[in-house]
Amino acid sequence: MDLPKFHRGRRLRTSTTIRDLVRETVVRPEDLMMLYFVVETDDPNFKKPIDAMPGQYQLSVDQLEKQVGEAVALGMRSCMLFGLPKEKDAVASGAYDDNGIVQQAIRRLKKSFPDLLVATDVCLCEYTSHGHCGLLKEGDKKGLVLNDQTLDLLAKTAVSHAKAGADMVAPSDMMDGRVLAIRTALDEAGYKNLPIMSYAVKYASSFYGPFREAAESAPSHGDRRTYQMDPGNLREGLREAIADVEEGADIIMVKPGLPYLDVLYAVRQELHVPLATYQVSGEYSMIKAAAQNGWIDGEAVMLESLTALKRAGADLILTYFTEDFLRLQGK
Ligand code: PBG
Repeated sequence: MDLPKFHRGRRLRTSTTIRDLVRETVVRPEDLMMLYFVVETDDPNFKKPIDAMPGQYQLSVDQLEKQVGEAVALGMRSCMLFGLPKEKDAVASGAYDDNGIVQQAIRRLKKSFPDLLVATDVCLCEYTSHGHCGLLKEGDKKGLVLNDQTLDLLAKTAVSHAKAGADMVAPSDMMDGRVLAIRTALDEAGYKNLPIMSYAVKYASSFYGPFREAAESAPSHGDRRTYQMDPGNLREGLREAIADVEEGADIIMVKPGLPYLDVLYAVRQELHVPLATYQVSGEYSMIKAAAQNGWIDGEAVMLESLTALKRAGADLILTYFTEDFLRLQGK
């Protein structure tokens, strides 16, 4: 056969060795940040599986310490905490209580694992009786969170996490101006070197469903569409990201991950700051459920999805798969 010359891409795919040599994107253990749900409880043995997220648990501080110890032994370098307080109220008192559940957990983890980076989610939704991410006007029917009044509480929460020893704070509430409010409060309190990772481009996503079971934070009325972004909007995401960098965010996050790879890529092109993405609860649950049914190879899909997030531009990935990934690496 006398064919004209054509590209032989397969030459570089003939063996594992050559494929490894030319691989462009690699997921490293240190790229991943694990998420934990810690519960304020008198039962030190409290460890409750989250139905919609196989392999994930609500944990007492003692159980958290145990679980984190195992993950650190596997090579985990960073994690982020969500708190479930005993009591919720209209002003989210538990969020900025210096003896609140997240504050207790930070102290414990930093004492036991000084080299572990402990980040915290800064938001009020797990602490408000109505489940919204900020303060509401009396009689509110729509979840129209009061922006500027909420900023003070978010700033207080971040400072309280810092005082407990957190290494990074991550506001996820989507109020306008919160990065500036938090940066100012942290600086005033003497935490000039504490980085802020802002959930800058956060969509009003149905992929958060399982998380709301895990964190018991579903809004009792209305939804989050008056503060989280419309899934159809990309340019608006860039606007949000630019605003947060200007306000002082050190790391910018796009959330969810896989359904928003185009947004991740666009932010990567536009901004020269470290970029994070959050592979959210629904993404995790879909992969786990299909794998449990034998419909997909769960480990392979996990690796492929993490690789896709890095390839699109993420420097770091918040993922519930962190421990699974580390176990797989250790094999
Ligand atoms: C708090 C918060 C949420 C998530 C992270 N921080 C829930 C929400 O905004 O409704 C979702 C994470 C996930 O689905 O894994 N506001």
